[in-house]
Amino acid sequence: MYKHKVLITEQEIARRVEEIAGEMNKQYGEKTLDMVCVLKGATIFMSDLIRKLQMPVRIHFVQVSTYGTGSESSGTVSLHFSTAADLLDRDVVLIEDILDTGITLDYLLKHLKEKKPRSIQVCVLLDKPTKRKVNLQPHFRGFEIPDEFVIGYGLDYQELGRNLRFIAALDPSEYKP
Ligand code: XMP
Ligand code: MG
Repeated sequence: MYKHKVLITEQEIARRVEEIAGEMNKQYGEKTLDMVCVLKGATIFMSDLIRKLQMPVRIHFVQVSTYGTGSESSGTVSLHFSTAADLLDRDVVLIEDILDTGITLDYLLKHLKEKKPRSIQVCVLLDKPTKRKVNLQPHFRGFEIPDEFVIGYGLDYQELGRNLRFIAALDPSEYKP
């Protein structure tokens, strides 16, 4: 595995996931939720979270491809939904691993709003607020982290590291943007 430094432990993640689920349970009550999970990074977060929710939940997946050079998102994004997600009049939570510049989530939100949901909120596990280029505040947020490249608990570097139980900063000596 790549050299890394643990930033958030398995126990800290579990506790925070429980708290976020508690906030959602309080806010949505018995309303059915439609979760839209951004592939692939948010899959582990979503699977842990939804098992702590008390209301009926549907899940959907969306694959986002951004075109650009290096590690920075460009403005060009394409979407592919796993199912023809009918979100008309639904209460939707868009769930993502990490909010960085905000370009990806901003694009997704605009697209999902065209499906005319009753409500739509954003839930992110991690937030790197120093990198923001778009004004976007997540409604539910796990942890604020410094501007380091992180892996684990769904997040990858070159497709590896997703199965780590914790979140870790990748050692810069390993990183080739
Ligand atoms: P933007 O910049 O559009 O992009 O908010 C968010 C997407 O960028 C990826 N990303 C990361 N992936 N470790 C990762 O594994 C990181 O530290 C990291 N920072 C950004 C991620 O795919 C997210 O969806
Ligand atoms: Mg990735």
